[in-house]
Amino acid sequence: METLDFARDLARGAGAILRQHFGQAQVTSQKGPIDFVTEADLASERFMVETIHRQFPEHGIITEETKEKKTVAEYTWVLDPLDGTINYLHGYPHFCVTVALRKGEEIILGVVYDPVRDELFWGERGKGAFLGEKRLQVSSTKDLIRALVTTGFPYDIATTPRTNLREFSYLALHGQGPRCSGSAALDLCYVAAGRLDGYWEAGVKPWDTAAGGLFVTEAGGMVSDYQGKPWHPFRGEVLATNGQLHPALVDALK
Ligand code: IPD
Ligand code: CA
Ligand code: CA
Repeated sequence: METLDFARDLARGAGAILRQHFGQAQVTSQKGPIDFVTEADLASERFMVETIHRQFPEHGIITEETKEKKTVAEYTWVLDPLDGTINYLHGYPHFCVTVALRKGEEIILGVVYDPVRDELFWGERGKGAFLGEKRLQVSSTKDLIRALVTTGFPYDIATTPRTNLREFSYLALHGQGPRCSGSAALDLCYVAAGRLDGYWEAGVKPWDTAAGGLFVTEAGGMVSDYQGKPWHPFRGEVLATNGQLHPALVDALK
């Protein structure tokens, strides 16, 4: 089976599991004061890991809730079985499954599935990013004051010096009121789709951003670190924009 079709089926299958448990989410463990693992997380992850092992036993897997044995594989799947855990726990209908495939050091394809809206975002390096059949294109907003941007706050906000509050305040005063949606993967999809003009966050994990970051570049946008230097999903800092707003956002994050 082709990897892209496989990834789309995988995300839809995991999304169906999340939909089934939605509204009755049970916390199974806690990773920090506001960082939880739910039963749905684990069920969705189990489904994805088992399905990948069956179809591509030689591929590696990096996933949020289970430490897989370290294997050196040419292809590695990077998975978040539930992105938007806090929303999910509260019955707030904004969350997704995200799947990316890495070949060597490069993310070559991604899929993000929102099971509430039944929206399937997908993309392949060099071939574009899509929502269903529709090709994604970033917005054309030029001025920060007209921009709708979004971010997320770290789970260790109470103890880290990098709270993101200064950046948030600045953009509240200089943009159209920043959002905080609770799902980094959907934030990136929305930038790619032109629903948002920009997204920034520090402390994110590769499974949060690998697929969505690819979509933004494939949709004509820019992804970098806060200084505007090349983005790497394993480095934890991401600034994604429609391209035109990139210099203004780099300035805002200084
Ligand atoms: C979180 C969400 C959130 C972002 C956090 C992520 P999780 O992922 O993407 O929007 O602000 O940095 O950890 O815990 O819901 O999978
Ligand atoms: Ca996540
Ligand atoms: Ca997660």
